[in-house]
Amino acid sequence: MDAEDLFGRLAGIWDEQAEAMDSAMGAHGPAARRALDVQPGERVVDLGCGPGLSAVALGSEVGRRGWVGAIDIAPDMVRAAARRMAAAGVHGAAVTGDVAGVDVAAVAGEGRPFDAAHSRFGLMFFPEPATAFANIGRALRPGGRLAASVWQDLDRNPWMAVTSATAVQILGIDRPPLPQPGQPGPFSLADPEVTLALLSGAGFVDVEVRSVESPFLFDGDGAAGAARVLSAGPLGPAFLAADEDRRHEVIDGVLSALECHRSAEGFAVPAASWCLTGRRP
Ligand SMILES: C[S@@+](CC[C@H](N)C(=O)[O-])C[C@H]1O[C@@H](n2cnc3c(N)ncnc32)[C@H](O)[C@@H]1O
Repeated sequence: MDAEDLFGRLAGIWDEQAEAMDSAMGAHGPAARRALDVQPGERVVDLGCGPGLSAVALGSEVGRRGWVGAIDIAPDMVRAAARRMAAAGVHGAAVTGDVAGVDVAAVAGEGRPFDAAHSRFGLMFFPEPATAFANIGRALRPGGRLAASVWQDLDRNPWMAVTSATAVQILGIDRPPLPQPGQPGPFSLADPEVTLALLSGAGFVDVEVRSVESPFLFDGDGAAGAARVLSAGPLGPAFLAADEDRRHEVIDGVLSALECHRSAEGFAVPAASWCLTGRRP
């Protein structure tokens, strides 16, 4: 299943759970936005905007004199982002498009290049990442900045490793739980050396990668948080298609596997992402 199919099928869930996921992901959520440090009046594009939370946050930073172009490959994600942006009075537009190939400045920026490009976990799904990153560079003005969050390796992210492995086992899915490293999927940019070389090869300079380590919180008794993670990820369609008893069985299995991470607020499960930064010369 490619990104358009997967996220098209999951857009309703992402929309419904957007605020809860945002608070569950702790420091991983705002990391790229903080690194980008957009200023009032700037033009910024949010790549793989999903249901629009970061586009709204960027909108409040650039203000009415600035512009936020929010772009996503899944039309229902774009509809959700457009709704949130309109409700928050963001000056900009949400549009459907494949960041890997479209003229991003033309479709999301009224034909003018951007000062900055932001992405929160939206850049790991390209079948041909070198072409995609070069295309993203073309959307920026000379000197324009890029900041993006991507996940580190699966073994540094038990919040996803454990949930996926448990779901695969209990649902009886006959395939690897997640796409393999190097394939489009949540961990395709997990190797920092490869990713830095990719960005440099695409023409970015001053490329850097910073580790962000902050727990992913399954709050309260953990059940709703575990269900959210399972529904929103690559196994979402299989998990959501299972009957209720089987879904409960998966959640119980996940929570007992994560017991060692139980804390006063819920389950604080280790999570690690990279914050990538660079700029167009
Ligand atoms: C993991 S979600 C993150 C969504 C959002 N940035 C957030 O943090 O809530 C990845 C998003 O990237 C979008 N996406 C994947 N490949 C894309 C592409 N080639 N062009 C545009 N959007 C893409 C998906 O549709 C999805 O909405």
